[in-house]
This record gives sequence, structure tokens and C-alpha cells, in this order.
Amino acid sequence: MARYYFSDSSLAVEDLYVYTRQSLIDALASAQTPEDRAQLFRNLAALRDSSRRSLAVNVDQPIGLSDSELERLINSPDGRLTLNRMVSVPANSQPVLMRLLVVLGPLRPPAPQEGEAEAEQGGASPAGPFSLDAPDDESVSLVYVARDLSTVQKLLEQLQNVVLVLFLAGLLTAGTGAYALAGQALQPLRRVQRAAERIGGQNLTERVPVPRTGDEVESLAMALNAMLGRLEGSFEAQRRFTSDASHELRTPVTAISGHASYLLRRTNPSGQQAESLRIIQRESERLTNLIASLLQLARSDSGALVITREPILAALFLFEITQELAPLAQAQGTALRTEGEDVTFEGDPDRLKQVLINLVSNALKAGAQTITLRSARLADEVRLSVQDDGPGIPADQLERLFDRFYRLEDSRSRDQGGAGLGLSIARGIVDAHGGRIWLESEPGAGTTAHVQLPIGNVPELGEEDVP
Ligand SMILES: Nc1ncnc2c1ncn2[C@@H]1O[C@H](COP(=O)(O)OP(=O)(O)O)[C@@H](O)[C@H]1O
Ligand SMILES: [Mg+2]
Repeated sequence: MARYYFSDSSLAVEDLYVYTRQSLIDALASAQTPEDRAQLFRNLAALRDSSRRSLAVNVDQPIGLSDSELERLINSPDGRLTLNRMVSVPANSQPVLMRLLVVLGPLRPPAPQEGEAEAEQGGASPAGPFSLDAPDDESVSLVYVARDLSTVQKLLEQLQNVVLVLFLAGLLTAGTGAYALAGQALQPLRRVQRAAERIGGQNLTERVPVPRTGDEVESLAMALNAMLGRLEGSFEAQRRFTSDASHELRTPVTAISGHASYLLRRTNPSGQQAESLRIIQRESERLTNLIASLLQLARSDSGALVITREPILAALFLFEITQELAPLAQAQGTALRTEGEDVTFEGDPDRLKQVLINLVSNALKAGAQTITLRSARLADEVRLSVQDDGPGIPADQLERLFDRFYRLEDSRSRDQGGAGLGLSIARGIVDAHGGRIWLESEPGAGTTAHVQLPIGNVPELGEEDVP
């Protein structure tokens, strides 16, 4: 009958037939010392073990109830206790988690009602199998009704997985969304940044784009442009000053030099006077060169350095330079050589000659015994190098030498009388060609200056075109 009503539950019954509910409460209340209570619970356990019956619960591994749980049950007003417990069932080797209702109360079959006696004998009574609400003086039983929680447990686990997956998916979506949004919001800022990075001393007339976003990025771009305007103004003023000053100096220096020449040629100065006049002539010549250099720097600063583009034959070009400097090299016993491939490239021959003459004369001034001019082709670039066996340059000075008026702190640099502008002018010219210039050196072993230029738009010579 019980199986009929609790078909998917496990059931167990233990009769405490010597007790009524009230006598159980009284017995618990009167057990004062721990020993008395232990004795009472031992008695109850013996009673339960001897009277246990069960449906779908392993009788050998009964549903355990601790003494304190039993006490709570006895003292509870409605005689009910609900627990979660691992219950061992015959169908399963492992105990399963079950929700347990334990009821303490009299257990007796329902009083057969009139006309229903036959139906009751059939097994199932519609009036219910048992009645638990009997008068207080009847002996009590412990009834366990346990329901398997494993399906609920499984469902909960699935739910947990679903929530976890949803959470991760949400996190991912939110993350990518936030990243994309931030990227979009930062896009104008990036454009401003890229533009700002392009702008240098050569192109101060350019401005960063002003995004019409109406926010801080717009005001930042406008502030940057205002700053560029002010910088452009002061750069321009400085450049114009150098350029005007050089112009103004040219005339008086030419006059000084002319008058010194006149005095030397047309008058009859004494030995001492002639020596002074020669010094004046030499120094004004130096001044003329310096003024020309300053003018050229001012021009390349303002981007006004105009580069012509003509095809240049590298080997021939280097050979011409060695010829031009041969007298100077011979005078100090230096060997000048050229070697390497013959590459045709595009450039301004006069300006590039100025660059290489400066590099070779630097090597001569440094006191090299052998100077080698080399040309080589690297992918779509040509590299012209000037190698010397001079004293070399300390590594920390290599870049600084391209600064204006910067020279090495040795006596030779001073004695040879360069102003320290040659390499900065050379860099201006090479930059205008879209190339690079740098120095490599090993102190004590010599220096190599490299000029690397894009080959540019020259017709490729096939094998059959070469004579
Ligand atoms: N090949 C070299 N070997 C040693 N020192 C060098 C060499 N080339 C340049 N220098 C140093 O770099 C300085 C700057 O060179 P440069 O800018 O051409 O100016 P300048 O020739 O007018 O002195 C030189 O004064 C010299 O001290
Ligand atoms: Mg020089």
C-alpha cells in the first residue's frame, strides 16, 4: 500500500512500541546526566534495530539518525524533521543523496469504513494507507520517507554549467564590445597621434586633422595646431635671422678679402705686413665658407633645399671625387682608392659631391694613410662608403658629430680648422634625397662613413646593353 502511494520514494519504518509520544518526551526530559541520556538513546537504538522494516532502503545500512537529531525530532512540536542524507538503496551500490522526511508518531492502518472493507482487502484504499494523527496515548513509530535528489542534483549541475557558460559568453561579449567601442572612440585620437608623429622641423607647415567630435579630442587637436603655429613662427624667425645675417655678412667679408688681395698685389708691404695680409686673406676665406655653410643649413631647415634628380654612375662618380682630391691627398702622402660595383642611381650630383668631398676631407684631416671609396647595391638602394685607417671616433660621439658646430675634443680637429658644420650639412642633403648617413668606427682602427640612398627611377640596364 505504501509502495502505491510513495512509488518513487524510499520508505523505512522503525517502531518504538514501548513509548507513546508523551512518554518519550518525558523520558528525555527526566534523563538528567549524560550517562542517563546515553542509556536512553542506546535503548531507543536497540528498539529501532529490532523493529526496522523498509521499502527500497538497504536494511543492513539503515538511515542513520544521530542522537541530537533524534532529540530534536522528539522535542519538535509536530514530530517532523527534514534532512538531506546519503541513503543506501538496494538498487544502487553507492549511497545516493536523498531528501528525507522523518515523522515521529503513532502508525496504524486506517479504520475500515463501512462498505469499503472489500476494497481495502484489494490492497489500495482511497482513504489513505495510514493515519498519523491518532490520539496521544498510542505507541509511536519513526517513519522515514526519502526522495532521491540525484535528478535534482544533476539538474542543478546542468544549470550551474549553463550559468557558467552564459556568464563566460557574456563576459566575452562585453569584453569585445568594450574593446571595439573603446577602439572606435580612440580612432580620432589615433589619427591625431599619427599626424603629430609625422610633423618635424622640416614640415612645420603641416597640421594635425581636427576631428569634428565636439569633445576633448577636438580641443586637443586644435591646441596642437595652435602650438604648431607658434613653433612654426619662431622657427621661421630663427631661420630668417640666420639667412639674413649670412647674407649681410657676405658683402663685408668679400670686401675685406678683396682689399687684402689688392694690398698684397699692388703695394709693397714689408715681410711682416705681407704675413698679416695673408692671414687676413686666409681667415676671410674661412669666413666665406662658414657663411656659405650657414646659408645652406638655413635653406635645408626651411625645406627650401632643392634637389635635382639625374642618373649618376656610382663608380664614375667616386672616381671623379678621388681625382678632385688627389692633390690634397698627395700633399699628405695618403692613398685614395675606389672599388665596388657600378650602380646607376638617381640624385643631385653637385650636392652629393659636396657630401662625399666632406667625408673624404674629414678622413684626410684625421690623418688617414689609406682612404677607400666604395659603392655597393643593396636591394633598391645604393650604399656609398668612405673608409679610412685614421684614429677612429669613440662610439658615444658618432651621432653627436652630426650636431652643428660639434667637433671631437682633440687638437687635430681644432688645428685643421673645420667649423663642425660639414656632417650636419651632409645629413640635410642626404635626408632631402630620402636616404641615410651614419658613421661606424673602431677607435685605433679607422672610421667608415656610409651614405645610403634610394636608387630611384633609373632604367634597368640589361646584359645586352652593357658594351
Ligand atoms: N673620418 C673621421 N675620423 C676621425 N674624426 C672624424 C672623421 N670624420 C669626422 N670626424 C670628426 O667629426 C668632426 C665634425 O666633422 P664635420 O661635421 O665634417 O666638421 P668639420 O669637418 O668642419 O670639422 C670633425 O671635426 C672630426 O673631429
Ligand atoms: Mg668636415
